[in-house]
Amino acid sequence: MKALITGITGFAGSHLAEYLLSRGDVEVSGSYRLRSRMDHIKHLSNQLTLVECELKDSHSVNQLIKENRPDLIFHLAAQSFVPTSWNSPSDTLMNNTVSQVNIFEAVRKYEIDCKIQIACSSEEYGLVYPEETPIKETNPLRPLSPYAVSKVTQDYMGYQYYQSYGLKVVRTRTFNHTGPRRGESFVTSNFAKQIAQIELGIMQPTLYVGNLEAKRDFTDVRDVVKAYWLALEKGDPGDIYNISSGKAFAINEMLQTLLSFSDVKIDIEVDPERLRPSDVEILLGDSSKFHAKTGWAPEIPFEQTMADLLHYWREQ
Ligand code: GDD
Repeated sequence: MKALITGITGFAGSHLAEYLLSRGDVEVSGSYRLRSRMDHIKHLSNQLTLVECELKDSHSVNQLIKENRPDLIFHLAAQSFVPTSWNSPSDTLMNNTVSQVNIFEAVRKYEIDCKIQIACSSEEYGLVYPEETPIKETNPLRPLSPYAVSKVTQDYMGYQYYQSYGLKVVRTRTFNHTGPRRGESFVTSNFAKQIAQIELGIMQPTLYVGNLEAKRDFTDVRDVVKAYWLALEKGDPGDIYNISSGKAFAINEMLQTLLSFSDVKIDIEVDPERLRPSDVEILLGDSSKFHAKTGWAPEIPFEQTMADLLHYWREQ
């Protein structure tokens, strides 16, 4: 079985590569860009095939798909940070939508018989009313950021290519996920890194935050990548599945959990630059459809994920 991971050098991509290699029955390849940092996959490099490819360029993608001929594609590469999408909306839209259409077109052109998982997002739900939680796949999509719109487009493009051409696309709407290697801009890592730096005396004991009221449903990335495998092994092509823990924490509760692992005294200060033009207030997912289809359930408790994340930043 040959698997191709786009975005293999990234956070989820590197964990997925580790998981697939640990299974022993999958040959793993991945695409990266010239400017990609390789530190997350350095320890795996002799077990992987890495191919340089700019996914926005259809010619490069055609070469990648023609030569690799994968059985499974995990399409994780994306501009995935919500605030960046307000600063560079066109770049986010281009990057996330054009890359995916290039992959789909290459699979059609070379008639590759493969299954494709696409990383859609709970951000697509956007504005959610309290009575709509926990959110099911049938909830209306009311995106609140250019990033969310790019993910709605990816999601519907997956649906359309399945209906129009029979491409075996499985859409996963993943809620927030974190764990070791999470990029430092994302809230869990950002706070954990600040705590680690304050402990070392590199930073004054003031931790900067944005909106602490928002609620998010966090799953450990190591559980999420198992879900991606199951999505292709057992999920129905054309269908859509939430991947979530079913528990939501206010960002402040997440912060208090991280702080409970540290002995230093830390002040909290709101940095207005961290507030968004519109923030998604609550994301709390219902993943019972995916559980019924695949048997998947998250295994790593939230506190363990947070402890591992802080440990990761202390080691950097
Ligand atoms: N990044 C960041 N930094 N967020 C902060 C901060 C801060 O200092 N303080 C509060 N927050 C709040 C944000 O306003 C948001 O409500 C929440 O923390 C989570 O922010 P992020 O970690 O940046 O993630 P996100 O929820 O916007 O998006 C993530 O989850 C999506 C799935 O729901 C990303 O991983 C997306 O790529 C993913 O699709």
